[in-house]
Amino acid sequence: MGETPVIVTRDRDGKVHAMVNRCAHKGTLVCLKKKDNVASLSCVYHAWNYELDGKLKGVAFRNGVRGHGGMPEDFDRKQHRLRPLRVESFCGMIFGTFADEILHRLIVELDFPVIYTTNYDRNLELAFEVHGKAYAKISNAKEIASAPVGVTHIVKYHGDFDDDASLVLTETDFLNRLSFNSPLDVRFRADALASTILFIGYSMSDPNIRLLLHRIWQTWEESGYRQDRRRSFVFMAEHNPVQETSWRTRG
Ligand code: FES
Repeated sequence: MGETPVIVTRDRDGKVHAMVNRCAHKGTLVCLKKKDNVASLSCVYHAWNYELDGKLKGVAFRNGVRGHGGMPEDFDRKQHRLRPLRVESFCGMIFGTFADEILHRLIVELDFPVIYTTNYDRNLELAFEVHGKAYAKISNAKEIASAPVGVTHIVKYHGDFDDDASLVLTETDFLNRLSFNSPLDVRFRADALASTILFIGYSMSDPNIRLLLHRIWQTWEESGYRQDRRRSFVFMAEHNPVQETSWRTRG
């Protein structure tokens, strides 16, 4: 839909579902074929497996291998699914819509100075355009240098479809970014120290984002001014007491 790739499925009961074709793990394409007949949807990247309605069914090596790797203890499958669309069938035609127009409006109105997103699509920029609010898109070093002040900066942390070289797609790309030394990482570390930022599109259960946050907390710890750090907020789709307690202890 628009520039967003979607999957449309019909389950065993004949019910039609539609969801964004982006893995809930790291955002890669789940469906690579134009059509198929399958019992479930499987991401080729790290084998996360989804029901035909997009709910997460299974995670490979969830408990790691011989005590190494695996998902955090508070990992909750129900918190991770393919992003659904609202669909209606009429006379054999299927109509779909993104149900989060309200969410996009709220993001624009919240007026964050900086928004970081790992989504490649232009939905966020479109929301700013629709609501008539100025923004500057940043996906590479040149755009960091040229972005005007006084408008919301939308930082495309995993790149932008308008600039192929900026895309973080392959495992090598992800591993390279783990050094946190790219221009966007340097900018992120500075923003995380000084500004209120909104970060969209990454699972809080993902080890990479946990490592990123850990390093920022470590920087504050070593600075001797830990108590002066701005508070962080996590918006969760569903109530999860275990995860909430875990995040609360980190401020
Ligand atoms: S399982 Fe899909 S990106 Fe990792």
